[in-house]
Amino acid sequence: MPVPIAFCATPLDGTANFGATVTGVDLNDLNDETFLKLQTALYRYKMLIVKDQAGLTPSNQYLLNRRFDPDAPGEHADTVRNKADKSAIPSAAFLAEIPEARQVRIVGTGLIPKGHYGTVADQVLPGGSHVPFHETPLTEEELASGDTRFWRWHIDAPLYPKSAHTARVTTLFAHTLPKGEDLTVRFDDGTDRTMKMKPGRTSFIECTNLFRSLTPEQQALAENSLVEYAPKPYMWTSACKARSDGFFLLSEGKELPLEDMPGADEAEAQILPMVWPNAMTGEKAFMVHAIAARKLHLKKSKDDTVRIVDDITEVRQILDDMQRPFLKPENIVFSPYEEGDLAIWLNRSCRHTAMEYPKEKYGPRIMHQCHLLASDSPADPTPIPEVEL
Ligand SMILES: [Fe+2]
Repeated sequence: MPVPIAFCATPLDGTANFGATVTGVDLNDLNDETFLKLQTALYRYKMLIVKDQAGLTPSNQYLLNRRFDPDAPGEHADTVRNKADKSAIPSAAFLAEIPEARQVRIVGTGLIPKGHYGTVADQVLPGGSHVPFHETPLTEEELASGDTRFWRWHIDAPLYPKSAHTARVTTLFAHTLPKGEDLTVRFDDGTDRTMKMKPGRTSFIECTNLFRSLTPEQQALAENSLVEYAPKPYMWTSACKARSDGFFLLSEGKELPLEDMPGADEAEAQILPMVWPNAMTGEKAFMVHAIAARKLHLKKSKDDTVRIVDDITEVRQILDDMQRPFLKPENIVFSPYEEGDLAIWLNRSCRHTAMEYPKEKYGPRIMHQCHLLASDSPADPTPIPEVEL
């Protein structure tokens, strides 16, 4: 009998103050005791890299997502989003379904050979690119030389209609990773800041740390204010361009009018607090998907009167002033997964972006991704008990 290896969560090195690697777990054979440790580690460290899961089946990945939210309806949130909204991200271009677990999607770039967990034909995923989204994208030569950008910072959140609650967790299994020298991440935010990263990794920031970085006045504003998202927010912004840090939309009057979005219903627009509580620790995360925000209901304190801000330029500027100072190298983690690892992140605490790489030079990237619509609202999550690690 193999000696069982004990569960161990080790915080990541570095300055970003979140993330941990986990060993001593077999996700294909996960008992309740170990799952509860994994869950506690996730709510404590917000992002986990579970090492050595090369045999993880898509069905067991799906069941793991469900275990983090047993009352969830069980549908991939992108399915709902794509039905209700048309994304600025051409999802169909880089997502494919896995027959044995249709709520687990293949995200990636390049050839997925026939027979990949039951797929019946070769599929080539062109992969996403920051080029159509950024106002002044990198040139082909810059991309080919190994430069990259933060493509599009986001939360895995449909944000429409009202019943489409943002997933508690996202899981991302690294089946095949591109290979080659490190990329140079350019901030292109008016500074010459750069970072080095391995190709195929995902960039993360963690938003309880963001909340802590705010001034006391900003924290009070964040705690007492609401964000009103647009109906069909991804269709609404589908013609908009982003600044070069992938964090901010330019206000050029390109948002679609409501009457040009068939079926868009004002009554179904989500209105959420700026601050989402951690269901286990109670920590406060500044979680605003600024790209999708349309109005702010601002209050500087509990007893203040509400000021509605509906000028989109002002909405974006207020949010940018609060969160952009946090977007700096010491707060960013390039999730250090290797092939066969599973990344899990608290989708109500982290924001992330995929990172483009030169496909021909580095080869395919095949990831299995899952985030399910949640059973509860991130504004008022069901408390989750902690266990000893
Ligand atoms: Fe995502």
